[in-house]
Formats: sequence, structure tokens, C-alpha cells
Amino acid sequence: MKYRNDSGINDNRAEKRVLPFTDNRQPDNIYPMLRIRNLKCFYGQIMAVKGITLSVKEGEIIALIGANGSGKSTLMASVSGLLPTWTGEILFEGKNLKGMDPPAVVKSGISLVPEGRLIFPPMSVYDNLVLGAYTRLRKKAREDVQQAMETVTALFPILKERFSQPAGTLSGGEQQMLAIGRSLMARPRLLLLDEPSMGLAPLVVEKIMDVLELLRSQGLTILLVEQNARAALTIADRGYVFETGSVVLEGSADELLADTNVKRAYLGKDYEEFDDENR
Ligand SMILES: Nc1ncnc2c1ncn2[C@@H]1O[C@H](COP(=O)(O)OP(=O)(O)OP(=O)(O)O)[C@@H](O)[C@H]1O
Ligand SMILES: [Mg+2]
Repeated sequence: MKYRNDSGINDNRAEKRVLPFTDNRQPDNIYPMLRIRNLKCFYGQIMAVKGITLSVKEGEIIALIGANGSGKSTLMASVSGLLPTWTGEILFEGKNLKGMDPPAVVKSGISLVPEGRLIFPPMSVYDNLVLGAYTRLRKKAREDVQQAMETVTALFPILKERFSQPAGTLSGGEQQMLAIGRSLMARPRLLLLDEPSMGLAPLVVEKIMDVLELLRSQGLTILLVEQNARAALTIADRGYVFETGSVVLEGSADELLADTNVKRAYLGKDYEEFDDENR
């Protein structure tokens, strides 16, 4: 497509632009909760993430947007301990995550809602939720798990109604709620979500975004990967745009929503409109 070649985002120049207010809007004396520096991730010889630097401060919602294959899920897998083949630095609350396996990452306070949900279809909704607390089950922290279950079902009452039903029989939206609920059972301080809106109707997407805003107001910090850039940037404080393994643009959510290149490439606006604007 024509606009892909002259958008400034998709032309592989990988020249990062930082929109003007990004670094000054919040005081930097708040040490970021998650700090990623020069992250490079490898599948064998292939480098899928090529030196990404980003940060998430406590209480923020940060959106990662970008085309298919740009490295968003790879970054999430590296932070979660699922992909150990990376170099650079991932610091969570000042602690280096290098060498930590997924259970250790969960115990440290990070929980992932994976792409495609990955619920366990034949198991009941209840058992899927309990599995989210598996790092604490071993310690027999039953009361704590019970409390987490109450919090999750207060957030998603429909899950309680479906407790004994096989998870595979839930609707797409309900399965996404289950995947989020399961992650919350681990009592994270940082929630990673990989495309929670995928395949869902607009009203359900809105509901999911409302829940994320509510969770943030309750103190949770959120890193949100989304193809649905508009939905993500509507609730996010800041965002990063990925292109072929690099960050090509970062800014406040408002700045990104107003950016011509972002509008053109990710917000589904009519190309003609931009043609006129750019004359
Ligand atoms: N297991 C794997 N082995 C080899 N290459 C992989 C593997 N997983 C991902 N890749 C490659 O790494 C690159 C980044 O993929 P990734 O899944 O992180 O992209 P993404 O931004 O999440 O895309 P999408 O929006 O489609 O989910 C792609 O080129 C992909 O083909
Ligand atoms: Mg992905």
C-alpha cells in the first residue's frame, strides 16, 4: 500500500521519534517500576527484538502498539520468563529478571494474560482460576487464595455463575475475562496483557478496557499490548509504537492519538483524509 512506504513508521528507517512532552510530563524522580534497557531477544539466530528501551512507572497504563510480527509478544515473553534468550536489562522494582523462570517472575509480582488467552478448555472455570494462584497454593495460603477469588468474581460476576462449567464453553469475551481473572489470582502488582481485545465485539472490548481502568484505580500497573490502538490509547497514559523489533515512536497517549502517522497506520482512518491534510 502506498501509505506504508511514506508513513515514516513502516519504512524501516527505525529512526526513533520522541514526541515533545513524553519525558517531562511526569517527574523522573519516580523510579520506574519496570525498566527495560537495550533489550534484544533471539529465536535461535533470529533477532526479533532489536534493542528496545522502555519504562513503566507505578500506576501507569502503558500501551505497546505495532504491526504483526513487530516483537510485542516477544517482549512480553521475555519479561515473563517464558523466553530466556535475551540480552540487555529488565529491572522490576529494581530487581534484575535475568535468569528467572516464569514461576519466579510471578512470585516477584508480575502476571501475564497471554495472547490467545490460553485457558484450559476442559477444566472448569473455577479450576482455571485456582491455577492462577498456583505459586501460592504450595504454601497452602488458602485464605489468601479465597480472598483473591472473591476479588476476581466481584470484578467478573459472570465467572462465578459459570464456576462449574468447562472453560471451553464460555464465549470469547467471557474467556478473556477468565484469562484476566486467572492472572489476577496471582495478586500481581504489574499486569501484562497481550491483545486482550482480539476477536471481541466493540462493546466487549469497551468492557475489558473499563475493567483495566478500574484495576489501575485500585493500584495495579498495566502494560498493554494491543492491535486495537484506539482502545489501548484511550485508557493509556503513554505508549510506544513498535516496528520490526524497534521502537519507532513514543509519546503520551494523547500525542499518539493525534499523530498523523499513527492515525494513518493504526487508527484505521481513511487515507484520502491524510492525503488532503498533507498537501
Ligand atoms: N517461536 C518463534 N520462533 C521463531 N521466530 C519467532 C517465534 N515467535 C515469534 N517469532 C518471530 O519474531 C518476530 C516477532 O514476533 P512477535 O510474536 O513478537 O510479534 P507481535 O508483535 O506479537 O505480532 P502479532 O501482533 O502478530 O501478535 C516475528 O518475525 C516472528 O515471526
Ligand atoms: Mg503478538
